[in-house]
Amino acid sequence: MKIKKTIKPAHDKMTSRSPMYIYATEMVSDYYSCLNLEGKRVLSICGSGDQIINAFYFGAREVVAFDINYNSFFILDLKLTAINKLNYLEFINFFGSNLIDGSLEFGLYNKLKVFLSVKTRNFFDKLYKEFDYKGKKLIKSDYFRQRSMFDVLASDINYYLKNEKEYLKCREIVQNRKIQFLQLDVNDILTCKKLKGGFDIINLSNVLNYLTGKTEEENVLNVLVDVSRKINKKVNKDGVFFYYSYSPSIYKSQRLIPPASRFEIIKSINEINNFKFINKRFRRIGSESFDRINILRSK
Ligand SMILES: C[S@@+](CC[C@H](N)C(=O)[O-])C[C@H]1O[C@@H](n2cnc3c(N)ncnc32)[C@H](O)[C@@H]1O
Repeated sequence: MKIKKTIKPAHDKMTSRSPMYIYATEMVSDYYSCLNLEGKRVLSICGSGDQIINAFYFGAREVVAFDINYNSFFILDLKLTAINKLNYLEFINFFGSNLIDGSLEFGLYNKLKVFLSVKTRNFFDKLYKEFDYKGKKLIKSDYFRQRSMFDVLASDINYYLKNEKEYLKCREIVQNRKIQFLQLDVNDILTCKKLKGGFDIINLSNVLNYLTGKTEEENVLNVLVDVSRKINKKVNKDGVFFYYSYSPSIYKSQRLIPPASRFEIIKSINEINNFKFINKRFRRIGSESFDRINILRSK
């Protein structure tokens, strides 16, 4: 297959200390609703923590979180502690009702801090100090990715935020859960000694879209074939892995759609690796466009 001339990276850098996400930018609850998570062992990108919290909410037995960015552990820890210790309205005030109106109000942080892990507490204490204990300044700072273009409610992304009842149900589910977090590049998934055993479901968020930004066009397919083969080796028999693709309409031209989200590339990955592929689409709330998850498994 000939791969068309590409590829201006559609995305910026993802590193071990890049900005944190307050909420996921994907329709996480919508896609988990379509996958049966009940009793499953799940491995997921951590990001804002929403992929992890939702996996529990939708019935996963065990969830292992991983991310190249260690800071994503801090936001996960903060969010889980908030679910346990803040009431529903306090949580919404603290993190926001959408992707841009959070407050990280210091008074609410003070309610949480003694319950955080020492590492997380030290991390956020330092950040609050740097921003004169003004949560709003902190949340608008470079420590966080600003995602104003995604016009969705936090409760559309996360059903656990739909109302107080769902929030308390989520609290019940996540309370006292031990979550393993690994700082891990998805490319090293097979060599990571701490990542034990196989998984029924692996959620890669939209990470595959970021992997080829700097890759010469003739190597793009190889990179994706190779990483998806490695990921599939961590999937249990009858399990699946999946990744997210935004609606093509968010990219200005066909050429800017990240390779991992182009159907002709996905077809080649599946042919070479002998994968079965299905996709499920979700309407992005507040828009006419559809995002999707690409679900892959061994034939
Ligand atoms: C790809 S980003 C995008 C946000 C995502 N759409 C969401 O809804 O959370 C999600 C997470 O992937 C992580 N990430 C990016 N590249 C990675 C890689 N090669 N291996 C592991 N994690 C990676 C980032 O650090 C970030 O926390």
